[in-house]
Amino acid sequence: MTHSTAQTPLESRASGPLSGKVRVPGDKSISHRALILGALSVGKTTISGLLEGEDVLNTAKSMQALGAEVERTGPFAWQVKGVGVAGFAQPAAALDFGNSGTGCRLVMGAVAGCPITAVFDGDASLRSRPMRRILDPLELMGAKAAEAKEGGRLPLTLHGARDPVPILYRTPVASAQIKSAVLLAGLAAPGVTTVIEQEASRDHTELMLKHFGAEIVSVHEGSHGRKIALTGQPELHGADVVVPADPSSAAFPIVAALVVEDSDVTFDDVMTNPLRTGLFTTLREMGASIEESEVRGDAGEPMARLRVRASKLRGVEVPPERAPSMIDEYLVLAVAASFAEGTTIMRGLQELRVKESDRLEATAEMLRVNGVKVEIAGDDLIVEGRGHVPGGGLVATHMDHRIAMSALVMGLAADKPVKVDDTAFIATSFPDFIPMMRSLGADFS
Ligand code: S3P
Repeated sequence: MTHSTAQTPLESRASGPLSGKVRVPGDKSISHRALILGALSVGKTTISGLLEGEDVLNTAKSMQALGAEVERTGPFAWQVKGVGVAGFAQPAAALDFGNSGTGCRLVMGAVAGCPITAVFDGDASLRSRPMRRILDPLELMGAKAAEAKEGGRLPLTLHGARDPVPILYRTPVASAQIKSAVLLAGLAAPGVTTVIEQEASRDHTELMLKHFGAEIVSVHEGSHGRKIALTGQPELHGADVVVPADPSSAAFPIVAALVVEDSDVTFDDVMTNPLRTGLFTTLREMGASIEESEVRGDAGEPMARLRVRASKLRGVEVPPERAPSMIDEYLVLAVAASFAEGTTIMRGLQELRVKESDRLEATAEMLRVNGVKVEIAGDDLIVEGRGHVPGGGLVATHMDHRIAMSALVMGLAADKPVKVDDTAFIATSFPDFIPMMRSLGADFS
């Protein structure tokens, strides 16, 4: 999905307390995977609570282009009739993933195991992101990337393997996208495909593969890692998937509720998979009041109701090994750290440089233009919290939804309003962010 060039700026300013109860949209990672695994299964998959954001809708379109029947049956309710493992058909046109690295990279894995050729493309942000990290293992499995720009950047043509081979692959960085691409390609290979990661990344692909009938075993490896073994050529059967609320989206109103005085907000059905909750751990260490209740689970994914009350925060040190479990949350954590008393040191953030934007630079810039003292030291981000934020800055979004939402959260408690240059990209992951925040009492105009 391509955005028009006209920007849609917005300003946020201090308001009264935020209050109410909300359910943020469905988890983005799980939504992509439900569509892809539904398409690779035989029979009918039903998905409820799907995130209807642009990123996921692009994945839905790509599944249709590859031969699956994908249909919206009601609000956030979707049905997929799949083609079976290795059953994708040759797409007639290029697959356009818009802004989404996850959609693009996971589908590359699924295509790599099929004897077809597909062109992958995306917007200017996605075209700037490295794809070699995905293409390297997929080429070991027998796929071939052609016309790749330097670093394997999009647009590129991927020739899937006629006879995919199983591999043992050690991921060079903690990345669920790399792991998932290898596993999805491994579905089509005979024998066992193994992925070893030194730091465990989100395990939604593993949990969902099991839910759809694959044989997959995951064991601890070293102090923080995992070894995952998938038996290839399973018959995946359609399944029912309930998508819990996205903790990475909830992160924005949660931090807003913590920093806007006297706020009290409840969030329903937030996914609490421990490989996604590093932000909650960190905020609690900073003194945040986040109460969990109604803990339950669906298809291996735990979820809970969270009640968040405004809290006095203090600076903390966030260890590098926590990064994979909160990789998308550092921007909004930096906002929380700006309102805290004392220094927050976030270590080991090199992967932030290759997200929708260079998030390490963009986060520092967002804080700086709003009067917060911040430093990048190697791969660490150091924020000097002074208990309040001067604000008054104009924040550049860099085609990155999470920068826009973080800056708008900052404005809700800053001394002066904070403006973002473009809110259009919020629609990639959290289409109703602005109305939902307003319903809690946020002052955006
Ligand atoms: C995702 C994995 C993460 C994350 C992204 C979603 C996924 O990327 O940043 O938003 O659903 O697998 P990496 O695997 O590159 O760390």
